[in-house]
Amino acid sequence: MKETKVTMEKILNLCKGRGFVFPGSDIYGGFANTWDFGPVGVELKNNVKKAWWKRFVQENPNAYGLDAAILMNPRVWDASGHTASFSDPKMDCRECKTRERADNLIEDYAKKHNLNVVPDNMTNEEMQNFIDEHKINCPKCGKHNWTPIRQFNLMFETSRGVTEEGTNKVYLRPETAQGEYVNFLNVQRTTRAKLPFAIAQIGKSFRNEITPGNFLFRTVEFEQMELQNFCKDENALDLYKEFKERALKFVEDLGLDGEKLRFHDHDKLAHYAKAACDIQYYFPIGWQELNGIHHRSTWDLSRHQEYSGKSMLYTDPVTNEKVLPTIIEYSIGADRLVLALLCEAYDEETLEGGETRIVMHFHPAIAPYKVAVLPLQKNLSEKAKEVYSLLAKDFMCDYDESGSIGKRYRREDEIGTPFCVTIDFDTLENNSVTIRDRDTMEQIRLPINEVSAYVSQKIKF
Ligand code: GAP
Repeated sequence: MKETKVTMEKILNLCKGRGFVFPGSDIYGGFANTWDFGPVGVELKNNVKKAWWKRFVQENPNAYGLDAAILMNPRVWDASGHTASFSDPKMDCRECKTRERADNLIEDYAKKHNLNVVPDNMTNEEMQNFIDEHKINCPKCGKHNWTPIRQFNLMFETSRGVTEEGTNKVYLRPETAQGEYVNFLNVQRTTRAKLPFAIAQIGKSFRNEITPGNFLFRTVEFEQMELQNFCKDENALDLYKEFKERALKFVEDLGLDGEKLRFHDHDKLAHYAKAACDIQYYFPIGWQELNGIHHRSTWDLSRHQEYSGKSMLYTDPVTNEKVLPTIIEYSIGADRLVLALLCEAYDEETLEGGETRIVMHFHPAIAPYKVAVLPLQKNLSEKAKEVYSLLAKDFMCDYDESGSIGKRYRREDEIGTPFCVTIDFDTLENNSVTIRDRDTMEQIRLPINEVSAYVSQKIKF
């Protein structure tokens, strides 16, 4: 592990200062736990999504993409169980009105006092008793005056319709998965896919989280990258194991340090699930879930079959056997992964002469800009703009001609640009440029017409 101590505060400051992420509705004082991705943040996140899509859709002949609607028929959420049980146990402090999750209060208390208590295994009554017996106080005002625990549904509600009497309650989807389940047969029919095959999608999800926070870690609006494998039950456990490894390899290949990643197998499973695990990452706030892999048995399709009245059976083209497929789900939050990658990439290096540089060591494939074009002096800008126009056809490029070259290198280091192309007087003579490597700071000289191929080969994922 690197020596720099990475804190959430340092990451947040860099993000705000360099245009990765801004607080949502900033000029109105923000809007709690919403974030806007700025010019370099949107590139970073798009590149992460592209890398995921490439790995799990483009390079997989049995995977098909989907982009389903955010608003779905409300019956979907009855079938999925979200209206009945997608909730957290909440308590309100009667003194200062803070709302807390009872399970989180117990977890924090247990961590502090080295107790082996798992709130997931407790009923609401047991949690209530624990909080009273151990006098767990409100973390905000320090008083112990809690309302009883009540289940709080996390789905955002809105209404659809043009007249007040005629409106219907609808929900913003709390996960993208259901779009993949309800389209299972549409995709299968139109692609003629045979089991096992997968449906993947990337899209926004919304959750009215009781305790959001820690920057991008837990927000009320976020993007998920989800892939549902549909298979015969006898192949499901093998596929589950395969996806644990593939999910881990993906984040390692993107640059997360293997020592900061671990599997966390779930002890408590949903009644229908045969296995479930998270991959956890060591964030500055400690070990936390990065993604999940779930063996969901035939639960989802059987529920949609029951609630929609439509058969969800797959017919084997060879044997004519009809089966309800089992689902192995792989789900990862794009924003949470971006946060992990920001934390991993961040470094403060002391240079010869004692100066410190902040550098983001992103994998070149996800770096916001691949190349920065920097004329050594302003009177070289015409040639530099020519080089910029040439390279911008192939990659996202930055162009900067203000300030000393050293300062410009530092700015590019802070946004993680892997290559700086410098235009100097020799460029006018022989059409060659220098290319500086972000990580080693070493420079080589190349003819302009070889730069694109050089960079392309370095940014492959
Ligand atoms: N369809 C399964 C599902 O939604 P989940 O564990 O609730 O499972 C999957 O969510 C992933 O989505 C998480 O591992 C995390 O990366 C991301 N995620 C969930 N809630 C989030 C939130 N409030 N803010 C940011 N990311 C979140």
